[in-house]
Amino acid sequence: MRLVKLLPALFLAAAGATAGAAAPADPDARAAATEARMTDAERFHLLHSHLPIRILPGKPAEVIPGMPITPGVVTGIERLGIPTIAETDASLGVVNPFELRQGDVATALPSSLALAASFDPQQAYASGAMIGAEAKAKGLNVLLGPGVNLARDPRNGRNFEYLGEDPLLAGVMGGQSARGIQSAGVVATIKHFALNDQETLRRTLDARIGEAGLRESDLLAFEIGIELGQPGAVMCAYNQVNGFYACDNDFLLNQVLKKDWGYKGWVMSDWAAVHGVSTFNHGLDQQSGAELDKQVWMDEPLKAEYAAGRVSKARLSDAVRRILRSLYAVGADQPAASADIDYEAHAKVARAAAANGTVLLKNDGVLPLDRSRRSILAVGGYANIGVMTGGGSSQVIPVGGPAAVIPNELHHLVKRPVGQMLIPSAPVTALKEALPEASIAYDTGYDAAVAAARAARADLAIVFATRWETEGRDSGSLSLPGNQDELIAAVARANPNTIVVLETGNPVLMPWLGQVKAVVEAWYPGQKGGEAIADVLSGAVNPSGRLPVSFPAHEGQGPRGPLQGLGEEDGSQLKDLDETVQYPEGAEVGYRWFAAHGEQPLFPFGYGLSYTRFEHGPLHLRGGDVVSASFTVKNTGEREGQDVPQLYLVDAAGKVVRRLAAFGKLDLRPGESRELSLSVDPRLLADWDRHGWLIRAGEYGFALGESAGDLGPVATLSLEARRMQP
Ligand code: BGC
Repeated sequence: MRLVKLLPALFLAAAGATAGAAAPADPDARAAATEARMTDAERFHLLHSHLPIRILPGKPAEVIPGMPITPGVVTGIERLGIPTIAETDASLGVVNPFELRQGDVATALPSSLALAASFDPQQAYASGAMIGAEAKAKGLNVLLGPGVNLARDPRNGRNFEYLGEDPLLAGVMGGQSARGIQSAGVVATIKHFALNDQETLRRTLDARIGEAGLRESDLLAFEIGIELGQPGAVMCAYNQVNGFYACDNDFLLNQVLKKDWGYKGWVMSDWAAVHGVSTFNHGLDQQSGAELDKQVWMDEPLKAEYAAGRVSKARLSDAVRRILRSLYAVGADQPAASADIDYEAHAKVARAAAANGTVLLKNDGVLPLDRSRRSILAVGGYANIGVMTGGGSSQVIPVGGPAAVIPNELHHLVKRPVGQMLIPSAPVTALKEALPEASIAYDTGYDAAVAAARAARADLAIVFATRWETEGRDSGSLSLPGNQDELIAAVARANPNTIVVLETGNPVLMPWLGQVKAVVEAWYPGQKGGEAIADVLSGAVNPSGRLPVSFPAHEGQGPRGPLQGLGEEDGSQLKDLDETVQYPEGAEVGYRWFAAHGEQPLFPFGYGLSYTRFEHGPLHLRGGDVVSASFTVKNTGEREGQDVPQLYLVDAAGKVVRRLAAFGKLDLRPGESRELSLSVDPRLLADWDRHGWLIRAGEYGFALGESAGDLGPVATLSLEARRMQP
């Protein structure tokens, strides 16, 4: 199929069917009618979800019979036709928490960072629709994703669950993912609102940032994602933002989300993120997994506030209607048409997603592998067993079950080991299938000297390097753990044709970069990851991923200093520790910070190679309410491939900036050229100025980029001053 993806400013036309195809005509009217028939007891019932497990001190958790086993459950109200709300994680596939649903599996997609690397909104929609369909078939009607927190810190243990460092990219991909999820009749939940941008001390830290910086960065990602995807729920975060807990934050929830953005859905808390009943008037509509908090605040304590007149009837009705309208809007109150899941078809989505997000970082002519490579040594990374995944609440038990789990520690809730889960789809097996005439051997890499000696006797060596990341913990450095740097260097010294395949959830340093012939970033590639890696290495797929995060050149490059409290258990309150996290860079996140400080990263945001070459024609700009840029893209190489043209704003009325203003993705045959037109979201031309967006009068400069670090000629356009409401 020929693909041309033209991405208008708000990307509304980008993908697939409209959200909630089975949606009733007016969910608001229906919600109001149902709510009017409810008793107060029924209203309060909807305002907190429960854990389906009993946690008794010192004992393994017990499942409560009759409740769906999923992190948050609100039982239905039959007389009103209100369904049970069953909330499940999330963005990488349907999670079976701690495998408590015995034997239940799901299609494990690549990490969200890999999805962001595809720069392909249609992929986000397709992946979301797949997860939504599996959730629906399993009787789960609220999905706790997508996550759009910006990757402000490359050490953040949850970056793999998010969509990169740029607000436009994260917003568009998150929005399309939500649309896909909701197309299956399942509510999507955009999270974690806001600034849960590191895991260290996440339950207590106070993220400090100025309003303009916040509105132009993390909040913009949410704003775009919400406009585009209309997710039925927003999950407020654990941390504080400018002195107030995110779930108790009038500014974030009432002012920004509900008033400025006119958000109609409901706000649910993160699990164990509610510290009091004041949250309700400050905009929180539903307390999640309420047993995890000190109190079920939204039950007796809230009823007492209501009885005392401190919570109004109007507010109570509002919260209930928000929940109901979101369920009705996407048909989440309707049961699945069938409980069958087509895992084979879904595996194809997983494989396409993995290939689409794989980023070729270096290629000194060694890739794709040519048939003359008779003997190949694969080394390390458990590549004979499976591919790496990230840990925490997003961890999916894949079809076929885990290939192996390297236990790290006991989980405090369920007393089960959690650890580095490898999922089936061993790259070595897939390579053997893709290259039947080559002889492929495997060495664990346990001893670098042994691996090097074996590599010296092969035509080519491929070192697989992994770095596990998990929710609840950040990394202490950007290096590959263990002996992997030494291993790569030793193999590269022994064999001049050494390729490195990275399976990481974050950028890593590459001290051996100059010694190897090729580097492929495969992220956590999901349950068809091995096949997707083989597809790219063998040339069956021409790589088209681009980095959604900058890769720093050295430790400490970037605005962040040491992480206070690194390694402490999540939620621990350390004495004498400053728990404020300052974000003085404001909206200058990632590549914007590198550009503003004249720093060179190892690999810039937007970077990625192909097996073919593309040429961009001159840039033609058009003004008006929505600025657009058109140009031709030509495939000047010998292979079919997909290009990701990126339009950057470099000059905003005399202010030097670097902002991704628009992007596209299109497939071209050798010699083929097409005209592409990209529209620019006006907020990306503006600054946040007191109460709204302000485009200043003056000249605006734009350039097409191969990445944020490699821009073409600048074209300019004159714009008039304009103010826009949030
Ligand atoms: C995570 C959320 C998740 C929730 C339910 C929390 O610990 O932060 O992202 O959705 O658990 O599992």
